[in-house]
Amino acid sequence: MPICVAVPKEHTAGERRVALVPEVAARLAKLGVKVLIEKGMGESAFFKDAAYANVEVIEDSASLYQRADVVLRVQPPTEAEIAQMKAGTVLIGFMAAHHNPERVAALRDKKITSLAVELIPRISRAQSMDALSSQAAVAGYKAVIMGADLASVFFPMLTTAAGTIRPAKVLVIGAGVAGLQAIATARRLGAVVEAYDVRSATKEQVQSLGAKFIDVEVKADGQGGYARELTAEEKQKQQAILAKHIAASHVVITTAAIPGRPSPKIISREMVEGMQPGAVIIDIAAEGGGNCELTESGKTLVHNGVTIHAPLNVPSQVPIHASEMYAKNLYNLLSPFIKEGELKLDWEDEVLIGSVLTHDGEIKHAPTRTLVEGAQK
Ligand code: NAI
Repeated sequence: MPICVAVPKEHTAGERRVALVPEVAARLAKLGVKVLIEKGMGESAFFKDAAYANVEVIEDSASLYQRADVVLRVQPPTEAEIAQMKAGTVLIGFMAAHHNPERVAALRDKKITSLAVELIPRISRAQSMDALSSQAAVAGYKAVIMGADLASVFFPMLTTAAGTIRPAKVLVIGAGVAGLQAIATARRLGAVVEAYDVRSATKEQVQSLGAKFIDVEVKADGQGGYARELTAEEKQKQQAILAKHIAASHVVITTAAIPGRPSPKIISREMVEGMQPGAVIIDIAAEGGGNCELTESGKTLVHNGVTIHAPLNVPSQVPIHASEMYAKNLYNLLSPFIKEGELKLDWEDEVLIGSVLTHDGEIKHAPTRTLVEGAQK
């Protein structure tokens, strides 16, 4: 019997991305599986039901979950949705376990095998499955577009009959996946770009994109290629040098994050007050509280003439391409385990071991187990 791969509608407020796009649905069907979609599933990203060939359209989510062997989603399911799933279902999507301990407990109790895409190991082989990276690239691009929109200046240099306009100065703080895409996008729009990161490896990457790297003589390479938190002394050194560059910038894009920790506060109130009126900060680290002391996540505010824009779920604002990239990530994760329409999970596989959150009545991811089972006692 071929397995049923099912995709319900997303109900999280503001979520416009979808976990399956027509092109990937066709590829899944070619693997011999039955693809089920909930009626209207793709509409928030402008994909009509009719565009999905070789799928069965199901009227309601309860009937869909009853038949599903594998469920593909963007956002984590609610407890009510988990209650509708069959025991043993394989669920793939973002799980945000630290925000949703009660949902993780429900997944465990329902014996769901949940694979959290944010836990996929960052190894070369898993790059094509890396949803954190694909969505961060979307966010970095869109951050610059938002910055250009809110800026009070042009990005490119313009030579006109009314005189020559100098290009905008853009500063990108945090040169990970999102930051590098932001640099490339701002350069394409003609801005003069500077960038800063605490990881030493980023210097060459920043320069290769045609931006200037700001060296504050602080190196904070942490475990697994991520950044570590700075000491108070290092922070002071960083702030003294960065303040001058922030003051000279028309647009500052902040993307700095430390896994499992709130976003580091890099731009203080004083630094904002030192900026030129009309300048803009786009804080896409807002999900983790933001990189600016004045950031209010999800809001736009103006302080002394400086706009601080801190949008949440930025990839959702580019729903077609963000969904295409995400759906391909899920396909690349799932398809190696499908043989002639049947699912055979390989528990020796490094990517599977790394991304499994719950399986067979247990929470497999140790930090989440401590969070959930510690909290329940
Ligand atoms: P992230 O989203 O966790 O953080 C964004 C950036 O902020 C990072 O570059 C980080 O160094 C920087 N940052 C943290 N604290 C800072 C501070 N106080 N000041 C300035 N910058 C600060 O990072 P992302 O984009 O998820 O990538 C992190 C690592 O993962 C990198 O080493 C990257 O090369 C690696 N990676 C590996 C992949 C693979 O091999 N499959 C795929 C994607 C990323």
